[in-house]
Amino acid sequence: MSEPRRVLLGVCGGVAAYKSAELVRELQRRGAVVRVMMTRAAQEFVRPLTFAALTGHKVYTSLWEPSQTQEAMEHIDQAQWADVLVIAPATAHTLARLSAGLADDLLSTTYLATEARVVLAPAMNVKMWNHPATQANVETLRRRGHRIVAPGSGYLACGMTGDGRLADQETIVQAVLDPDWLGPADPAPQPPAQDLAGETVLVTAGGTREPIDAVRFIGNRSSGRMGYALAEAAQRRGARVILVSAATALPAPAGCEVMPVETAEDMHAAVLYRLPEATIVIKAAAVSDFRVREVSAKKLHRDAPPRLELEPTEDIVRSVIERRAPETLVIAFAAEMGLDVDRAREKLRRKGADAIFLNDISQPGVGFDADRNAGVFLSGEAEVRMPELSKTEVADRILDQIVLLRAGRALAK
Ligand SMILES: Cc1cc2nc3c(=O)[nH]c(=O)nc-3n(C[C@H](O)[C@H](O)[C@H](O)COP(=O)(O)O)c2cc1C
Repeated sequence: MSEPRRVLLGVCGGVAAYKSAELVRELQRRGAVVRVMMTRAAQEFVRPLTFAALTGHKVYTSLWEPSQTQEAMEHIDQAQWADVLVIAPATAHTLARLSAGLADDLLSTTYLATEARVVLAPAMNVKMWNHPATQANVETLRRRGHRIVAPGSGYLACGMTGDGRLADQETIVQAVLDPDWLGPADPAPQPPAQDLAGETVLVTAGGTREPIDAVRFIGNRSSGRMGYALAEAAQRRGARVILVSAATALPAPAGCEVMPVETAEDMHAAVLYRLPEATIVIKAAAVSDFRVREVSAKKLHRDAPPRLELEPTEDIVRSVIERRAPETLVIAFAAEMGLDVDRAREKLRRKGADAIFLNDISQPGVGFDADRNAGVFLSGEAEVRMPELSKTEVADRILDQIVLLRAGRALAK
């Protein structure tokens, strides 16, 4: 059985450098082992610590640091290690250096020293991209046998519209891991990254039930699948997981500690009870906003239909925010009819959570009581759209964002 792909990702100094973090995650998800090399300019945009946290490996930034093996030089070590060198984003400057064969920093020197396949994903201002010098450099590199993942067209960070946006992640990943180009890939599944080791993740899931009488309740269509998928994924990625679960038909996920609850009030109490242990709280449950003020202890009868007076239930997110330890991350969920990002941002601000996952429950087959989900993950730092995927995949993508959020907070300290 062949080894997993070894991908050396070069990151250059462009606005799109932040997208390279997502690229690392996607390559890892497809089974690649990723190491990162950054130019000096790239470090003006993203700190190496972000990539170190994602890869669990040292990030290479300088020609002048001693090699890890001490027997060779870093540019030679990494040049020999890689199956593929992908540079994304590739700046105009780096394209020029590679085209000319200059070797004045670690990335350009590694490029000259490697026999790995080379994939270049340029991103820059439209005028820079269309400049004859850049186009000539790209043509030289293409003729050298490298894959150029052409930039897309659209609104650019510089305010102009045109070609120059970093190609979308899927196109870059396919170019990097193309089996026709690289030979058959390793079919063995890779063990999941243990990037949540040391975290205690408190997940709420399922739909609460608010009693009307001895046998009836006000409920909702939540199946609990999103919360359970998050609990399972967090457990796989090394976290200790406490799952506070309202009604669902799902079996308890292996390795998670499950606390069954029924009402919003029960869930509120259970979450606050376990909160001191949690380092991450993910509120994926569908909690009733109302409960019946006076619950009948007996079964009500058809001949005397009751007038139900409702009262609001506890705001669990608010209570968590008020009582959490400063380093505990809180991720809220918003299930709305439509993807109103502004409204979700407002909710994020109002609640004081670290992030919110907004999903559109008006679409058939996604969201409530469905196997698939889609939505937008919003935090102070990010707005990440997730296409329609299985809830397991969405869970992993949400956890990826939480890992990035944690790495970003560590950086800010
Ligand atoms: C705010 C800002 C944004 C930039 N964005 C880009 C970009 O998207 N693409 C690019 O080719 N150069 C961009 N540059 C210019 C590069 O950072 C500059 O050419 C640098 O020398 C590139 O170095 P490197 O190729 O070694 O990373 C930007 C510069 C600044 C200050």
